[in-house]
Amino acid sequence: NKKAFIFDLDGVIVDTAKYHYLAWQKIAGELGIEFTPEHNEELKGVSRVRSLDIILNLGKIDASQQDKDRWLLQKNEDYLGYLVHMDESEILPGVLPVLQYLKEQDQGIALGSASKNARPILEKVNIISYFDAIVDGNDVTLAKPDPEVFIKAASLLGIAAEKAIVFEDSVAGIQAANIAGMTSIGIGEEAILHEAQYHFPDFTPIESGFIDMLIRK
Ligand code: G6P
Ligand code: MG
Repeated sequence: NKKAFIFDLDGVIVDTAKYHYLAWQKIAGELGIEFTPEHNEELKGVSRVRSLDIILNLGKIDASQQDKDRWLLQKNEDYLGYLVHMDESEILPGVLPVLQYLKEQDQGIALGSASKNARPILEKVNIISYFDAIVDGNDVTLAKPDPEVFIKAASLLGIAAEKAIVFEDSVAGIQAANIAGMTSIGIGEEAILHEAQYHFPDFTPIESGFIDMLIRK
């Protein structure tokens, strides 16, 4: 009984969501746009280009493509600056034991992320070898909540959507998993991720018994 376990990256496997936030906050600050943690929730799971549009919209700023390209470049440079010293210690608590257990149980493991920086990050934190398939921001055209990224990941593993389980920290990602007919597991605040079928504050309470249940389901 093989299932596809699909992991989002930012905010699920590694704590990079905070770096995305800091880098966007800097751009917003320079443009005089107020950008709060609540606004940031809307950016989780959302592509770089779309994120900038959302921020500019907040400030009712109508920018030229040239300016947008400059800010997108600056955002990514600032973001990559935060990642320079990244290592295994940034893997979120409880993630490694779950990956290890899934491997022992011979389950399919995939990444489903909107980030174009996903592969280098997985390499930096030294867990790329766990993944049988990687679908990231370079492989998809439609953004979450469109389920393209997860459907691609399941199909690369050769496993049907109904047999896929998605771990997500973003509202858009949970919606994408639900639309695809996959099992959705929210990682983070329950009030924000109330559309998820299951919910955990982080990976530490996820025990082998729960994973066994998902495998049998
Ligand atoms: C993830 C994050 C978003 C980020 C997006 C694109 O979905 O949750 O905050 O904007 O990836 O990431 P990138 O690394 O390509 O800028
Ligand atoms: Mg995320």
